[in-house]
Amino acid sequence: MAVEAAQLMEKLTALARRRGFIFQSSELYGGINGAWDYGPLGVELKRNVKAAWWQQVVTDREDVVGLDSSILMHPLVWKASGHVQNFADPMVDCKKCKKRYRVDEIEPEYETTGKVPTQCPDAKCKGELTGARKFNLMFETHLGPVADSAAKTFLRPETAQGIFVNFQNVVNSTRIKVPFGIAQIGKSFRNEINPRNFTFRSREFEQMELEFFCKPGSDDDWFKYWVEERKKWYAGLGIKMDRLRFREHEKEKLSHYSKATTDVEYLFPFGWGELEGIANRTDFDLRAHQIGMRSVGKWRGEELQDFKLVDEDPEHQSGKLSYFDDEEKRRYIPYVIEPSAGADRATLAFLCDAYDEDEAGGEVRFVLRLHPRLAPVKVAVLPLVKKDGMPERARPLYDALKKRFAAVYDDSAAIGKRYRRQDEIGTPFCVTIDGDTLKDGTVTLRERDSMKQQRISEESVVAFVDERIYGMR
Ligand code: GAP
Repeated sequence: MAVEAAQLMEKLTALARRRGFIFQSSELYGGINGAWDYGPLGVELKRNVKAAWWQQVVTDREDVVGLDSSILMHPLVWKASGHVQNFADPMVDCKKCKKRYRVDEIEPEYETTGKVPTQCPDAKCKGELTGARKFNLMFETHLGPVADSAAKTFLRPETAQGIFVNFQNVVNSTRIKVPFGIAQIGKSFRNEINPRNFTFRSREFEQMELEFFCKPGSDDDWFKYWVEERKKWYAGLGIKMDRLRFREHEKEKLSHYSKATTDVEYLFPFGWGELEGIANRTDFDLRAHQIGMRSVGKWRGEELQDFKLVDEDPEHQSGKLSYFDDEEKRRYIPYVIEPSAGADRATLAFLCDAYDEDEAGGEVRFVLRLHPRLAPVKVAVLPLVKKDGMPERARPLYDALKKRFAAVYDDSAAIGKRYRRQDEIGTPFCVTIDGDTLKDGTVTLRERDSMKQQRISEESVVAFVDERIYGMR
């Protein structure tokens, strides 16, 4: 049953709160904008999203390794990467209602025309806007007790730079050779001007980023390859393909470091939104850090904005971030293909995609049709009644399942009500222990989507669930 887009977000946020998927951060204190807490079910769902990403990008491959770099980094990293100078959104303030807007959000043609609107977009206000000002999105912090500029650094706004500055460490400590990738999942922070649409635009969020290093000249092929791989990932996790699109950026609108970019977008109830950007970043980042690292001894903690990076070796033949290719017997700076996805946005997309309502027994049934690999609980064990030896039979089965999967045991309320509880949180399988179990060792296995029930032997439940979750990959 199709749920109206206008109501879907409201229903989903209510469900997320009611059943413990996502809460507002610091709710007890009135909440803070742009930060979210994942509750008992939400944390499982997001872990499953991240695990599925890691599985595709790292575990299933021979040519990608993982990394977990720190959030706090040397301030020069952010100067060399260009974030100090360029990681800023143009914004305007309304002089009357004091609201702040991102210019590109209220004037979609801003990037091409440079035109800045003059009147508040709020129809009730229509006040005069200030001129556009750049607002850097990085959160500043200070290392150590002295809060002067020498101690200033930033919370990372992307995990990618932690990968670039570890390129040499990974090459030296493993036997991996170009082409290869380094993958990382972790928190990033951006002081977004207008956090909104639930978790979609937050100030603290998690990224799943892969930097895939390849020989210059092979980059176009690797770019196409990764776009296809990422398409397979979303499709494999059951996302509705008519709500997913791959949008190529026009050449004129590419960021300064990018040769090609394709955004993966999902049709949320509030419109199309970016889940992931796949970019051909050329050798921009490794080159930038070759220059940046030479400036370390020269930087005395003055304002980074004014500091000039020193480039004494424009050919980059001696730098630590160039790569010696054994086969070609030459040194070069690898090109980078970067599929960069948001864990929170993917989680939100899977939730929106899964939300459904249908009718069962004359009542509306709320159901999350999550792919079994993503479902926070895989299987629920339900003794029909709390007596007649059923709990004694159900417990060992639950214990066996729990060793392998996220499982719950529920013996309260009528069986129909217990099924509904599981449907609403997306549990793909329910196993009911009833009178026949005691006689012939079979249980009822009920599937969430079709609500079909079948009897299978108690001993085969673990293998059945395993096959249905992981056999589907
Ligand atoms: N290293 C490249 C990079 O960070 P990005 O397009 O700025 O590229 C990548 O970010 C992904 O991170 C986005 O596609 C999105 O999924 C996620 N992301 C970015 N900003 C976000 C925010 N404010 N809230 C939630 N997710 C965000």
